[in-house]
Parts: sequence; structure tokens; C-alpha cells
Amino acid sequence: MKLVTAIVRPDKLNEIRNALESYGVQGLTVSQANGYGRQRGHTEVYRGAEYTVDLLPKARLEILVSNEWVDDIVDVIVATANTGRAGDGKVWVTTVDEVVRVRTGERAEAAI
Ligand SMILES: Nc1ncnc2c1ncn2[C@@H]1O[C@H](COP(=O)(O)OP(=O)(O)OP(=O)(O)O)[C@@H](O)[C@H]1O
Ligand SMILES: [Mg+2]
Repeated sequence: MKLVTAIVRPDKLNEIRNALESYGVQGLTVSQANGYGRQRGHTEVYRGAEYTVDLLPKARLEILVSNEWVDDIVDVIVATANTGRAGDGKVWVTTVDEVVRVRTGERAEAAI
């Protein structure tokens, strides 16, 4: 099992969610994040304003997936999140040891 974490533009979130739902993703976590990348936030534009602070608002997506789907899920996110401009975001994948569905006690792939 893998955890896909994606930091993306907040205004891309709905489009990415819809693409993931179309792909068959059944659950995900979204949270607000602030961060910076190589430009340290200085040359990025968000909602028409050039930010002069070095922390920019981003959306953080977390999706648990089975190993066989992880490459496709990353592709869907990258294809949807990409605008070609600095600040499009970053996606990374980590290995997950265990997942439990609280209601049923199911574990591992059955719990995703
Ligand atoms: N090395 C990193 N570790 C953790 N989070 C990061 C890292 N780099 C970027 N992020 C997060 O991703 C967000 C978007 O990063 P961003 O797209 O600006 O990356 P970048 O490497 O500067 O690429 P680009 O040159 O396309 O802007 C940042 O605001 C930050 O929240
Ligand atoms: Mg950047």
C-alpha cells in the first residue's frame, strides 16, 4: 500500500478531485497548507496577486492506494494539476505498513 501526497494549487482542487473520482478513488483527505518551493514563493501569482510573502496557500491531498494503482493515480494528479507555471506543486509517494477501517476492523488492502 502507498500514500500519495500531493501539494497543489487550491484552485485546481475540484478538478483534481473530479478526475480522481472518475478514476475510481473512493476516499481522500484534503487540508489547507502553506509552503514554498524553489522560487521561495516570490515570483508566483495566486488569484491575480503576486505574493511577496514566502509562504503560499496550497491544497494538500492524501490518498491511500494499492500498489497496482499508484502510478496511474500520480499520473491523473499531475495531468490535472499542471498549468505549466511555477508553483504547480509536488507529488510524492510513501510506503504504508498498515491501514485499518475503524468500523469493521478490516485491514490492509480491504481497508482502503
Ligand atoms: N522540497 C519540498 N518539500 C516539501 N514540500 C515542498 C517541497 N517543494 C515544494 N513543496 C511544496 O509544494 C508547493 C509547490 O511547490 P512548487 O510547485 O513551487 O515546487 P518547485 O520545485 O518550486 O517547482 P516550480 O519550479 O514548478 O515552481 C510548495 O508551496 C510547498 O508547499
Ligand atoms: Mg516553485
